[in-house]
Amino acid sequence: MSYYGTSCCRHQDLFTSANYISLCAKRAFAFYMDLSSVIFLIIIVGRFLFFDVDTAAGDVGLAITQAAGLAMIVQFALMQWSETESNMTSVERALEYTYLRQETKEGIKLEDWPKKGEINYVNVSLTYRSTNEKVLKNISFAVKSKQKIGIVGRTGAGKSSIISTLFRLYNYEGQIFVDDVEIKTLSLEFLRQHISIIPQDPIMFQGTIRKRTSILYSNTPMKRYGKLSIK
Ligand SMILES: Nc1ncnc2c1ncn2[C@@H]1O[C@H](COP(=O)(O)OP(=O)(O)OP(=O)(O)O)[C@@H](O)[C@H]1O
Ligand SMILES: [Mg+2]
Repeated sequence: MSYYGTSCCRHQDLFTSANYISLCAKRAFAFYMDLSSVIFLIIIVGRFLFFDVDTAAGDVGLAITQAAGLAMIVQFALMQWSETESNMTSVERALEYTYLRQETKEGIKLEDWPKKGEINYVNVSLTYRSTNEKVLKNISFAVKSKQKIGIVGRTGAGKSSIISTLFRLYNYEGQIFVDDVEIKTLSLEFLRQHISIIPQDPIMFQGTIRKRTSILYSNTPMKRYGKLSIK
C-alpha cells in the first residue's frame, strides 16, 4: 500500500478506537441513567401502592407522569453537562498556549537581506530542553549561493533539527551565518519572514501559495515569487 494509504488507515484506526470508547461510555452512561430513572419511578409507584391509600387515582397518575418526565429532563441535563465537560478539554488545550512565554522581539532588521543566500554553520549544537540530550553536536558546514544540497541520515538523526535552528525555533550553541550575518542578531520576525521551508509532512492549507510560503503570512513582494514554478 502507498505511504498515504497506510497513513490514512493508521489515522482511521486511531479515530475509530477513540470514537468507539466514547460511544461505549455514552451508552453505559445512558444505561445507568435509565436504571436510576426506573428505580425512582418504582419508589414513587411503590409508595402509592403500599403506604398511601388516601390519594386520588388522578393525582397518582399525575405524579407518575411528572416523575417520568422529570427523570428524562434530569437525564438530558446530565448528558449535556458531560458533553460540555468534554468540550471544555479543547478550551483547556487552547488556553495552554496563553501560558507560554513569548519569544523575544529584540534584534535588528536589515535592508535587502538575504542577498546571495550563503549559509554557514559554525560549531552548532542543539539540546532540546525537554530531553536534555544533545541532538546536534558541533556541526559545521557551508552552503554556497544557489547550491542545492541533500542531507541524508536515518530517522531521528537530526535533519529537521538543523532546519529548526535556521528558524531559531530553539536556542542553539555556536553560530549560524546567512550572507555573513549571524542570525542571532536579527529580529525573529524579520528572520522568519525572509526564509521559507517546505516541511516533510504534507498538510492541506487554505489560501494562496504566496501567503503560505512565508511563515508569518506576510505580504512579501510578488517579485520574490517570480521564479516559483511547479514541476
Ligand atoms: N521538539 C523536540 N523535543 C525533544 N526532542 C526532539 C524534538 N524534536 C526532535 N527531537 C529528537 O531529536 C532527535 C532528532 O530529531 P529530528 O526530528 O531532527 O530527526 P530527523 O533526522 O528529522 O528525523 P526524520 O527523518 O524522522 O524526519 C530525535 O532523537 C528526536 O527524538
Ligand atoms: Mg525530519
